Amino acid sequence: MKTLTSIAGMRAACRGLRAQSGSRLGFVPTMGALHDGHLSLVRKAREQCDHVAVSIFVNPRQFGPNEDLDAYPHTPERDADMLRDSGVDLLFLPAAAEMYHPDFSTTLTVEGLSGRLCGASRPGHFSGVTTVVAKLLNIVQPDQAFFGQKDAAQAAIIRKMAADLSFPVEITLGAIVREPDGLAMSSRNAYLNPEQREQARVLSRCLQEVDLLVAAGVADSGRLIDAARKTLALEPGVQVEYVAIVDPDTLLPVDDVSRRTLVAVAARVGTTRLIDNVLVKG
Ligand code: PAF
Repeated sequence: MKTLTSIAGMRAACRGLRAQSGSRLGFVPTMGALHDGHLSLVRKAREQCDHVAVSIFVNPRQFGPNEDLDAYPHTPERDADMLRDSGVDLLFLPAAAEMYHPDFSTTLTVEGLSGRLCGASRPGHFSGVTTVVAKLLNIVQPDQAFFGQKDAAQAAIIRKMAADLSFPVEITLGAIVREPDGLAMSSRNAYLNPEQREQARVLSRCLQEVDLLVAAGVADSGRLIDAARKTLALEPGVQVEYVAIVDPDTLLPVDDVSRRTLVAVAARVGTTRLIDNVLVKG
């Protein structure tokens, strides 16, 4: 595995891999603090592409002023070992100053979608995501880029950005990877103390219940949201930010789950903000 820290170096290395005839370059952008969710995307990329590039960049532009940018877990050596062991060809590890020169002044916003779900409580977050993802895609120029379904709103917004701006890249989503007790893997799980870790299980539990209700024929979004909120209320330490039942592409609320529908939840456990979701179809 080759590690590159400059944009010029990464561009040249990616160009070298793409130049091999018929070779397909897969790309997994990350913010590091890697877990099996990230590695499952790397595995998928390895299955579907000939070469795999990964970036680790904790993007300051997607953190609000009172968010956890300074505390965000940073484990570059461990991450690099995991990626090397997973057969990654290129690791892009730029410093913030390499990605954002002092006169950087461009922001890319997918209007509408960027203000929905997490975008409602994290103003500017998704613009920070789309700006950095567009920049990374321009640097790497992959044939295929891989994102996690756990960030379902992010995935919808990136798909829309890529389609609107005709990025020549196929966007592929990887399924949520869960701990044995159901908690969706997240780099932010590291913030939870043992009591909070236990409380956090309620997020996946409420989604599982919604899934079962849908399988049992309940299609009305209002009823499903009530059921999910009732379960979440069993853990008073968990502050619910939203329970939403939306179209997975537009992120707009739907009245029932007769089509493929995204059920998404965001909550704070202590000061840690967690998200989870499930795709259902009535
Ligand atoms: O999902 C993430 O880790 C980040 O939002 C991403 C896509 C790497 C952009 O910084």
